[in-house]
Amino acid sequence: MSLPSLLVLASVLVPSWTHLCLISPPQRGSMMGINTAGAPDCILLKSPCGGREERGTAISLMPHERFVVTFQKNLDHFNKTNPGYFSVSLMDPERPGAQPMELLKMNDSSDPALTLYSANVTMPAMPGHKVMQARYVTNNPQAPPAFYQCADIHIEPRFS
Ligand SMILES: *[C@@H]1O[C@H](CO)[C@@H](O)[C@H](O)[C@H]1NC(C)=O
Ligand SMILES: *[C@@H]1O[C@H](CO)[C@@H](O)[C@H](O)[C@H]1NC(C)=O
Ligand SMILES: *[C@@H]1O[C@H](CO)[C@@H](O)[C@H](O)[C@H]1NC(C)=O
Repeated sequence: MSLPSLLVLASVLVPSWTHLCLISPPQRGSMMGINTAGAPDCILLKSPCGGREERGTAISLMPHERFVVTFQKNLDHFNKTNPGYFSVSLMDPERPGAQPMELLKMNDSSDPALTLYSANVTMPAMPGHKVMQARYVTNNPQAPPAFYQCADIHIEPRFS
């Protein structure tokens, strides 16, 4: 098969799924092509972190610090009869079985692909390495149940 027909086939087979990218704090892995709807780095389906391993650098935050989380709806598949939601939680890598601590929950809406959302969250007084998990739960039988992204953060007091 020629390259052009393969490309056409690929674009026909790509379903219009909801996609999620976590921009700040920076998601694990890369953010290639996130200005395009349907970017491969925004379609991670595996809980809890889309199969992405910890990256070398964690951002440092203080206990009780407010932080603006920014994420992107990379591709829209809003179901208005059964809206999904976005959720941002903290997980402790040393307690993998523990319930993640939810910091933010926001309903999905008809906002188009590539919409950016920013919201304040407050860090708990839980020092150490934490994993910030963003989820896009679709509640949509015609899409995967959820998309995942994670970022590594380190919560520690700062003395000056
Ligand atoms: C929306 O969700 C309902 C209930 O889960 C489902 O029956 C319906 O097919 C969905 N609609 C679309 C457009 O995906
Ligand atoms: C979010 O959606 C849920 C369920 O669809 C609804 O009960 C709730 O009122 C919504 N919250 C906001 C802030 O719109
Ligand atoms: C976050 O909180 C700060 C301080 O209250 C406020 O100035 C800013 O507008 C908030 N940002 C968002 C995205 O809500």
